Amino acid sequence: MNEIDIVLVAAVAQNGVIGREGDMPWRLASDFRRFRQITMGKPQVMGRKTFASIGKPLPGRTNIIVSRDPELSIEGCLTANSLEDALSLARADASAKGVDEICIQGGGEIYRQAIRLADRLRITHVETELQGDTVFPEIDPDVWEATEEERVPAGEKDDYPTRYVVYERRR
Ligand SMILES: NC(=O)c1ccc[n+]([C@@H]2O[C@H](COP(=O)([O-])OP(=O)(O)OC[C@H]3O[C@@H](n4cnc5c(N)ncnc54)[C@H](OP(=O)(O)O)[C@@H]3O)[C@@H](O)[C@H]2O)c1
Repeated sequence: MNEIDIVLVAAVAQNGVIGREGDMPWRLASDFRRFRQITMGKPQVMGRKTFASIGKPLPGRTNIIVSRDPELSIEGCLTANSLEDALSLARADASAKGVDEICIQGGGEIYRQAIRLADRLRITHVETELQGDTVFPEIDPDVWEATEEERVPAGEKDDYPTRYVVYERRR
């Protein structure tokens, strides 16, 4: 069986900001399309607050919501009381579907815990600095090597230009 990689997928401003008041501080239609394409069919692990901001399960993907609340039940989603349990559910799902990535979809609290377990980062660098209350952890160049990069000019429905970078963990 192929290896299943843990991948953090995030859009991050130049100063590390990823969120403000429970939402994302930008509108980036091009990145939304890319996000859909790179995550489709793969299990998605996210914190309860990120799920609340999206408001419904992402279609075509198994949504796994992490919460410390053992009573939490969300229609159309799996729930887990720890990141480890969420990853076990995600591994089983990926393996059953024959996909090779588990996507960690945030938010800040979950990225902070998951980056040490990740094999790959798929980061949309948003080319601006913004105020916010949630940040992505540091991407340490001693740990992460950029292996793919694409500059995306701001389209009509994008607030800012972006730079999509794939980072692999250095072995
Ligand atoms: N720019 C991006 O790419 C991006 C992506 C995703 C999210 N965001 C933004 O990030 C913000 C949300 O991030 P956040 O840091 O506030 O929250 P979060 O990481 O989405 O969710 C935090 C919640 O997850 C649960 N949790 C975290 N660690 C856990 C653990 N080890 N075991 C069990 N449950 C655990 C807890 O839920 P309970 O309180 O229910 O116990 C906690 O309150 C929003 O502004 C959102 O828009 C941005």
